[in-house]
Amino acid sequence: MYERRPPPRAAVARRPVGAITRGTTNHNRLRRVDRWFLATYGGVLRAGSDPLVVDVGYGASPVTTVELFERLRVARPDVRVVGLEIDQARVDAALPYQRDGLRFARGGFELPLPGRRSPLLVRAFNVLRQYPESEVAPTWRMLCDRLAPGGLLVEGTCDELGRLACWVTLDAAGPRTLTMAARLASLSSPAALAERLPKALIHRNVPGERINAWFADAERAWALSAPEGVFGRRQRWTATIGRLASRWPVLDRADRWRQGEVTIAWEAVG
Ligand SMILES: C[S@@+](CC[C@H](N)C(=O)[O-])C[C@H]1O[C@@H](n2cnc3c(N)ncnc32)[C@H](O)[C@@H]1O
Repeated sequence: MYERRPPPRAAVARRPVGAITRGTTNHNRLRRVDRWFLATYGGVLRAGSDPLVVDVGYGASPVTTVELFERLRVARPDVRVVGLEIDQARVDAALPYQRDGLRFARGGFELPLPGRRSPLLVRAFNVLRQYPESEVAPTWRMLCDRLAPGGLLVEGTCDELGRLACWVTLDAAGPRTLTMAARLASLSSPAALAERLPKALIHRNVPGERINAWFADAERAWALSAPEGVFGRRQRWTATIGRLASRWPVLDRADRWRQGEVTIAWEAVG
Protein backbone atom coordinates (compact mmCIF):
# COMPACT_ATOMS: atom_id res chain seq x y z
CA MET A 1 0.00 0.00 0.00
CA TYR A 2 1.25 3.45 -0.80
CA GLU A 3 1.36 6.50 1.37
CA ARG A 4 0.42 9.48 -0.76
CA ARG A 5 3.38 11.79 -1.30
CA PRO A 6 3.57 15.31 -2.70
CA PRO A 7 4.55 15.39 -6.40
CA PRO A 8 8.26 15.93 -7.08
CA ARG A 9 7.95 19.58 -8.14
CA ALA A 10 11.69 20.28 -8.03
CA ALA A 11 12.35 17.46 -10.48
CA VAL A 12 9.72 18.75 -12.89
CA ALA A 13 11.56 21.98 -13.38
CA ARG A 14 14.81 20.23 -14.23
CA ARG A 15 14.74 17.28 -16.61
CA PRO A 16 12.41 14.36 -17.32
CA VAL A 17 12.65 11.49 -14.85
CA GLY A 18 13.86 8.34 -16.60
CA ALA A 19 16.14 7.32 -19.45
CA ILE A 20 15.76 6.97 -23.22
CA THR A 21 15.31 3.33 -24.19
CA ARG A 22 14.54 1.40 -27.38
CA GLY A 23 11.53 2.82 -29.20
CA THR A 24 10.04 -0.40 -30.63
CA THR A 25 6.30 -0.22 -31.17
CA ASN A 26 3.67 -1.40 -33.64
CA HIS A 27 0.17 -0.73 -34.93
CA ASN A 28 -2.42 -2.34 -32.66
CA ARG A 29 0.24 -3.66 -30.34
CA LEU A 30 -1.74 -2.40 -27.33
CA ARG A 31 -5.22 -3.18 -28.62
CA ARG A 32 -5.76 -5.89 -25.99
CA VAL A 33 -5.01 -3.64 -23.05
CA ASP A 34 -7.06 -0.76 -24.49
CA ARG A 35 -10.09 -2.99 -25.05
CA TRP A 36 -9.74 -4.53 -21.62
CA PHE A 37 -9.55 -1.08 -20.04
CA LEU A 38 -12.72 0.06 -21.79
CA ALA A 39 -14.59 -3.14 -20.87
CA THR A 40 -13.43 -3.13 -17.25
CA TYR A 41 -12.95 0.51 -16.33
CA GLY A 42 -14.82 2.42 -19.01
CA GLY A 43 -17.03 3.68 -16.18
CA VAL A 44 -14.05 5.45 -14.56
CA LEU A 45 -13.43 7.30 -17.80
CA ARG A 46 -17.09 8.17 -18.31
CA ALA A 47 -17.57 9.35 -14.71
CA GLY A 48 -14.43 11.51 -14.43
CA SER A 49 -14.97 15.27 -14.41
CA ASP A 50 -11.60 15.83 -16.12
CA PRO A 51 -11.08 12.97 -18.61
CA LEU A 52 -7.33 13.27 -18.92
CA VAL A 53 -5.25 10.26 -19.97
CA VAL A 54 -1.47 9.97 -20.25
CA ASP A 55 0.50 7.48 -22.32
CA VAL A 56 4.08 7.44 -21.00
CA GLY A 57 6.79 6.26 -23.36
CA TYR A 58 4.98 5.86 -26.68
CA GLY A 59 8.13 5.00 -28.61
CA ALA A 60 9.63 5.78 -32.00
CA SER A 61 6.17 6.26 -33.53
CA PRO A 62 3.11 7.67 -31.74
CA VAL A 63 0.81 5.08 -33.33
CA THR A 64 -0.32 3.37 -30.12
CA THR A 65 -1.14 6.72 -28.51
CA VAL A 66 -3.21 7.73 -31.54
CA GLU A 67 -5.02 4.39 -31.31
CA LEU A 68 -5.60 4.84 -27.58
CA PHE A 69 -7.12 8.26 -28.25
CA GLU A 70 -9.38 6.91 -30.97
CA ARG A 71 -10.58 4.03 -28.81
CA LEU A 72 -11.19 6.09 -25.70
CA ARG A 73 -13.04 8.88 -27.41
CA VAL A 74 -15.71 6.43 -28.53
CA ALA A 75 -16.54 6.00 -24.84
CA ARG A 76 -15.77 9.58 -23.83
CA PRO A 77 -15.83 12.03 -26.76
CA ASP A 78 -14.18 14.82 -24.74
CA VAL A 79 -11.25 12.66 -23.59
CA ARG A 80 -7.85 14.34 -23.75
CA VAL A 81 -4.83 12.12 -24.30
CA VAL A 82 -1.26 13.28 -23.78
CA GLY A 83 1.59 11.17 -25.13
CA LEU A 84 4.83 11.70 -23.23
CA GLU A 85 8.26 10.70 -24.46
CA ILE A 86 11.60 11.27 -22.86
CA ASP A 87 13.27 11.45 -26.28
CA GLN A 88 12.80 14.87 -27.93
CA ALA A 89 13.30 13.43 -31.44
CA ARG A 90 10.33 11.10 -30.84
CA VAL A 91 8.25 14.03 -29.65
CA ASP A 92 9.14 15.98 -32.80
CA ALA A 93 8.14 13.00 -34.94
CA ALA A 94 4.76 12.84 -33.18
CA LEU A 95 3.79 16.50 -33.43
CA PRO A 96 2.16 16.17 -36.89
CA TYR A 97 -0.32 13.71 -35.33
CA GLN A 98 -1.66 16.23 -32.83
CA ARG A 99 -5.31 17.18 -33.10
CA ASP A 100 -8.09 18.33 -30.80
CA GLY A 101 -7.84 16.21 -27.68
CA LEU A 102 -4.46 14.65 -28.56
CA ARG A 103 -1.13 16.20 -27.59
CA PHE A 104 2.49 15.07 -27.49
CA ALA A 105 5.17 16.46 -25.21
CA ARG A 106 8.56 15.70 -23.78
CA GLY A 107 8.41 14.30 -20.28
CA GLY A 108 9.14 11.37 -18.03
CA PHE A 109 7.67 9.69 -14.96
CA GLU A 110 7.12 13.05 -13.27
CA LEU A 111 4.26 13.61 -15.79
CA PRO A 112 4.67 17.30 -16.59
CA LEU A 113 1.04 18.18 -17.42
CA PRO A 114 -0.16 21.74 -17.95
CA GLY A 115 -1.42 23.19 -14.68
CA ARG A 116 -0.11 20.05 -12.88
CA ARG A 117 -3.42 18.38 -13.61
CA SER A 118 -3.97 14.79 -12.55
CA PRO A 119 -4.74 12.03 -15.06
CA LEU A 120 -7.56 9.52 -14.69
CA LEU A 121 -5.51 6.91 -16.48
CA VAL A 122 -1.80 6.48 -17.03
CA ARG A 123 -0.74 3.80 -19.48
CA ALA A 124 2.96 2.82 -19.42
CA PHE A 125 3.59 -0.10 -21.73
CA ASN A 126 6.95 -1.66 -22.55
CA VAL A 127 8.70 1.13 -20.70
CA LEU A 128 9.70 -0.21 -17.28
CA ARG A 129 10.71 -3.52 -18.82
CA GLN A 130 13.94 -1.83 -19.86
CA TYR A 131 14.70 -0.46 -16.39
CA PRO A 132 16.34 -2.23 -13.43
CA GLU A 133 13.87 -4.06 -11.19
CA SER A 134 14.85 -1.80 -8.29
CA GLU A 135 13.26 1.17 -10.12
CA VAL A 136 9.84 -0.38 -10.45
CA ALA A 137 8.46 0.39 -6.97
CA PRO A 138 9.65 4.04 -6.85
CA THR A 139 8.32 4.62 -10.38
CA TRP A 140 4.96 3.08 -9.57
CA ARG A 141 4.75 5.30 -6.52
CA MET A 142 5.69 8.43 -8.48
CA LEU A 143 3.08 7.71 -11.15
CA CYS A 144 0.36 6.73 -8.68
CA ASP A 145 0.93 9.89 -6.66
CA ARG A 146 -0.08 11.86 -9.75
CA LEU A 147 -3.38 10.09 -10.37
CA ALA A 148 -6.71 11.87 -10.05
CA PRO A 149 -9.01 10.47 -7.34
CA GLY A 150 -10.20 7.07 -8.56
CA GLY A 151 -7.51 7.08 -11.26
CA LEU A 152 -5.54 4.08 -12.46
CA LEU A 153 -2.08 3.21 -13.66
CA VAL A 154 -1.79 0.34 -16.13
CA GLU A 155 1.83 -0.80 -16.43
CA GLY A 156 2.80 -3.77 -18.53
CA THR A 157 4.69 -5.58 -21.21
CA CYS A 158 3.80 -7.36 -24.43
CA ASP A 159 5.44 -8.98 -27.43
CA GLU A 160 6.09 -7.04 -30.62
CA LEU A 161 2.66 -7.70 -32.12
CA GLY A 162 0.68 -7.60 -28.88
CA ARG A 163 -0.28 -11.28 -28.99
CA LEU A 164 1.00 -11.95 -25.48
CA ALA A 165 0.60 -9.25 -22.85
CA CYS A 166 0.69 -8.93 -19.07
CA TRP A 167 -0.06 -5.84 -17.06
CA VAL A 168 -0.43 -4.63 -13.50
CA THR A 169 -3.25 -2.26 -12.60
CA LEU A 170 -2.59 0.11 -9.73
CA ASP A 171 -4.51 2.82 -7.95
CA ALA A 172 -3.35 5.42 -5.46
CA ALA A 173 -2.99 2.72 -2.81
CA GLY A 174 -0.73 0.48 -4.91
CA PRO A 175 -0.96 -2.60 -7.14
CA ARG A 176 -4.39 -4.24 -7.36
CA THR A 177 -4.43 -6.83 -10.12
CA LEU A 178 -2.36 -8.71 -12.65
CA THR A 179 -3.94 -9.34 -16.05
CA MET A 180 -2.63 -11.81 -18.61
CA ALA A 181 -3.97 -11.72 -22.16
CA ALA A 182 -3.17 -13.77 -25.24
CA ARG A 183 -4.23 -14.26 -28.82
CA LEU A 184 -5.62 -17.71 -28.27
CA ALA A 185 -5.30 -18.87 -31.87
CA SER A 186 -1.52 -18.85 -31.54
CA LEU A 187 -1.13 -19.64 -27.83
CA SER A 188 0.91 -22.79 -27.20
CA SER A 189 0.10 -22.89 -23.46
CA PRO A 190 -0.29 -20.42 -20.56
CA ALA A 191 3.45 -20.61 -19.84
CA ALA A 192 4.07 -18.56 -23.00
CA LEU A 193 2.73 -15.55 -21.10
CA ALA A 194 5.53 -15.80 -18.54
CA GLU A 195 7.96 -14.32 -21.07
CA ARG A 196 5.92 -11.11 -21.05
CA LEU A 197 5.57 -10.60 -17.33
CA PRO A 198 6.04 -7.01 -16.19
CA LYS A 199 9.37 -6.06 -14.71
CA ALA A 200 8.05 -6.45 -11.17
CA LEU A 201 7.52 -10.20 -11.74
CA ILE A 202 9.72 -11.36 -14.61
CA HIS A 203 12.70 -12.16 -12.41
CA ARG A 204 10.49 -13.85 -9.83
CA ASN A 205 9.26 -16.65 -12.02
CA VAL A 206 11.43 -19.20 -10.19
CA PRO A 207 10.53 -22.09 -7.88
CA GLY A 208 9.36 -20.89 -4.48
CA GLU A 209 7.76 -17.70 -5.82
CA ARG A 210 4.00 -17.35 -6.13
CA ILE A 211 4.05 -16.27 -9.76
CA ASN A 212 5.92 -19.46 -10.55
CA ALA A 213 3.28 -21.49 -8.68
CA TRP A 214 0.58 -19.75 -10.73
CA PHE A 215 2.19 -20.74 -14.03
CA ALA A 216 2.85 -24.30 -12.84
CA ASP A 217 -0.81 -24.63 -11.83
CA ALA A 218 -1.94 -23.02 -15.09
CA GLU A 219 0.09 -25.58 -17.07
CA ARG A 220 -1.54 -28.42 -15.12
CA ALA A 221 -5.00 -26.96 -15.69
CA TRP A 222 -4.22 -26.50 -19.40
CA ALA A 223 -3.21 -30.18 -19.66
CA LEU A 224 -6.37 -31.28 -17.84
CA SER A 225 -8.41 -29.12 -20.21
CA ALA A 226 -7.03 -30.81 -23.33
CA PRO A 227 -10.37 -32.56 -23.97
CA GLU A 228 -12.10 -29.17 -24.26
CA GLY A 229 -9.46 -28.34 -26.87
CA VAL A 230 -11.32 -30.39 -29.47
CA PHE A 231 -13.76 -27.45 -29.57
CA GLY A 232 -10.92 -24.95 -30.01
CA ARG A 233 -8.36 -23.06 -27.96
CA ARG A 234 -10.95 -20.60 -26.69
CA GLN A 235 -12.85 -23.40 -24.99
CA ARG A 236 -9.64 -24.89 -23.67
CA TRP A 237 -8.50 -21.55 -22.22
CA THR A 238 -11.92 -20.91 -20.68
CA ALA A 239 -11.91 -24.38 -19.08
CA THR A 240 -8.34 -23.82 -17.85
CA ILE A 241 -9.22 -20.56 -16.10
CA GLY A 242 -12.39 -22.13 -14.73
CA ARG A 243 -10.25 -24.78 -13.05
CA LEU A 244 -7.78 -22.20 -11.73
CA ALA A 245 -10.60 -20.06 -10.36
CA SER A 246 -11.31 -22.62 -7.65
CA ARG A 247 -7.79 -22.19 -6.25
CA TRP A 248 -6.73 -18.64 -7.18
CA PRO A 249 -8.38 -15.25 -6.71
CA VAL A 250 -9.53 -14.88 -10.30
CA LEU A 251 -11.42 -11.60 -10.45
CA ASP A 252 -12.94 -11.57 -13.91
CA ARG A 253 -15.56 -13.75 -15.53
CA ALA A 254 -16.01 -16.02 -18.50
CA ASP A 255 -16.82 -13.13 -20.85
CA ARG A 256 -13.24 -11.88 -20.40
CA TRP A 257 -11.74 -15.39 -20.38
CA ARG A 258 -13.27 -15.92 -23.81
CA GLN A 259 -11.21 -12.92 -24.98
CA GLY A 260 -8.08 -14.81 -23.90
CA GLU A 261 -7.70 -12.89 -20.66
CA VAL A 262 -7.53 -13.58 -16.97
CA THR A 263 -7.19 -11.09 -14.12
CA ILE A 264 -6.06 -12.16 -10.67
CA ALA A 265 -5.62 -10.28 -7.41
CA TRP A 266 -2.14 -8.87 -7.04
CA GLU A 267 -1.78 -10.30 -3.51
CA ALA A 268 -1.79 -13.78 -4.99
CA VAL A 269 1.40 -13.23 -6.95
CA GLY A 270 3.00 -9.92 -6.01
C1 LIG B 1 9.67 0.09 -26.23
S1 LIG B 1 9.04 1.72 -26.40
C2 LIG B 1 7.34 1.39 -26.04
C3 LIG B 1 6.42 2.05 -27.02
C4 LIG B 1 4.94 1.79 -26.77
N1 LIG B 1 4.53 2.19 -25.44
C5 LIG B 1 4.59 0.35 -27.00
O1 LIG B 1 4.33 -0.37 -26.02
O2 LIG B 1 4.58 -0.09 -28.15
C6 LIG B 1 9.58 2.49 -24.87
C7 LIG B 1 9.68 4.00 -24.99
O3 LIG B 1 9.62 4.56 -23.68
C8 LIG B 1 10.43 5.71 -23.65
N2 LIG B 1 10.75 5.99 -22.26
C9 LIG B 1 11.59 5.30 -21.46
N3 LIG B 1 11.59 5.84 -20.22
C10 LIG B 1 10.73 6.87 -20.25
C11 LIG B 1 10.29 7.81 -19.28
N4 LIG B 1 10.77 7.77 -18.05
N5 LIG B 1 9.39 8.73 -19.64
C12 LIG B 1 8.91 8.79 -20.91
N6 LIG B 1 9.31 7.93 -21.88
C13 LIG B 1 10.19 6.97 -21.55
C14 LIG B 1 11.61 5.32 -24.50
O4 LIG B 1 12.32 6.46 -24.97
C15 LIG B 1 10.95 4.50 -25.61
O5 LIG B 1 10.64 5.33 -26.72
